[in-house]
Amino acid sequence: MIDSRKDKVLAEVQEQLKVFTRGIYVLVIGVMALVYYILNPSILVFDVPEEQPLVQVEAPLPEYENGIHLATGFKEGENLQLVINNCTSCHSAKMVTQNRATRDGWKTMISWMQETQNLWDLGENEPLILDYLAKYYAPEESGRRKPLTNIDWYELED
Ligand code: HEC
Repeated sequence: MIDSRKDKVLAEVQEQLKVFTRGIYVLVIGVMALVYYILNPSILVFDVPEEQPLVQVEAPLPEYENGIHLATGFKEGENLQLVINNCTSCHSAKMVTQNRATRDGWKTMISWMQETQNLWDLGENEPLILDYLAKYYAPEESGRRKPLTNIDWYELED
């Protein structure tokens, strides 16, 4: 009876000892981990690769802005490509865009260039080019700015 009680106590002590040693192991491992971390704190930081600097890619220029073909200054419109192909090889587009004329007026200018400036026969493109020119470079109706009214004139003193 006494023996079995002794055995029981012994078994309990052994069990507690086991728990205690396990605790010591955990503690030692914890301390070791702590020391390692203190010596080398970066182990907990993910190794983030350095970000590549963003390469600035030039955005391609928009071909048109506010209805103007940027490269030539022509107004955006149907048959513009034909006009660019046929009307910008001898002089700048500006020669065209600074002019205003009716369809007949444009036809006259083209004929003049054909007769005197070696402008080639535009063939079936001619009416299309004239369409464009007559539409987008027609004579301006309003013409010159209207004279100012209601001006307060004053006498210059000498
Ligand atoms: C083969 C060459 C050539 C081509 C192509 C050409 N031109 Fe000309 N153009 C000329 C020359 C040369 C002049 C006179 C330039 C000057 O006076 O300095 C001229 C002048 C002009 C002028 C000014 C006329 C004036 O009275 O001031 C206009 C507008 C014009 N061209 C429109 C056009 C158009 C529209 C086209 C396309 C259909 C065209 N050109 C294609 C040679 C050309």
